[in-house]
Amino acid sequence: MSLETSISDKSFTNCLMNASGAKCMTLEELTNLKNAPCGTWITKSCTINPREGNPSPRYVDLALGSINSMGLPNLGFDFYLNYVLEEHLDGNDDLFFSVAGLTLEENVEMLHKIQNSDFSGCVELNLSCPNIPGKPQTGYDFERTHEVLTQVFSFYKKPLGVKLPPYFDMVHFEMMAEILNQFPIKFVTCINSIGNALFIDDEAVVIKPKGGFGGIGGAYVKPTALANVRMFYKLLRKDIAIIGCGGVENGRDVFEHILCGASMVQVGTQLMKDDISVFSRLLNELEEIMKLKNYHSINDFKGKLIEL
Ligand code: SIN
Repeated sequence: MSLETSISDKSFTNCLMNASGAKCMTLEELTNLKNAPCGTWITKSCTINPREGNPSPRYVDLALGSINSMGLPNLGFDFYLNYVLEEHLDGNDDLFFSVAGLTLEENVEMLHKIQNSDFSGCVELNLSCPNIPGKPQTGYDFERTHEVLTQVFSFYKKPLGVKLPPYFDMVHFEMMAEILNQFPIKFVTCINSIGNALFIDDEAVVIKPKGGFGGIGGAYVKPTALANVRMFYKLLRKDIAIIGCGGVENGRDVFEHILCGASMVQVGTQLMKDDISVFSRLLNELEEIMKLKNYHSINDFKGKLIEL
């Protein structure tokens, strides 16, 4: 049985990776991911300058998921560029580099530097962080998304995909897909957290930033994540791969993301809860399901969700 998959011209031994943000900010965390049995891994979304992020508490585990308003804490673009270049020197270009500039100019500056570097892995351009006060999620502004992608692809030639916020309206799926299909995008990651939710414990919010508003992940978001994976799988050009993200707690969740059309599946909240051991458990559980169903590869069931 093979769990191999591919994105752009890259092959991966299996379909699992971390979601950007989960245990991938420091060198120690990135080294743990590198040594874990996931198919690949991704760096924390970075900005040009290092950021402390929002005040704590800013991440809380919930019974059915998590709420966070991290505010893009990261060690700054140079740290992550040096990190991926070290990996390149080690013979590894198959990791993902996440970029989340606070402005279009910042994204363009970082992507120019990546374009001019030896890194040839995939960049995930994060258009969907809901946690920066005063900065709307680009993915909800269709005109702005078009403008960003026009500028980016005017010079950027390496494999690049976008991380999208969740959409909830059929017209919005169609509008975003129509924009994405105009560009040489290699993948889309669906979904970032469901932004600006509110969780209350007794009489108080549970996180400090933004009066308690934060992005929800985990089991709460799985149906929304699957709907986004499915819709973009149907609406996007067939050469654009889908990376599923949202609500992956067990092998069955990974299976469902792939059934909806995902080529790769990211793990966020559950990686925060279980740590690195989550990957071998998920892989074993996925293999068990595939064995029962007599599937030998990801392609045997990718996108093959039965509709009634
Ligand atoms: C954060 O750092 O606030 C989370 C990043 C994201 O949701 O894109």
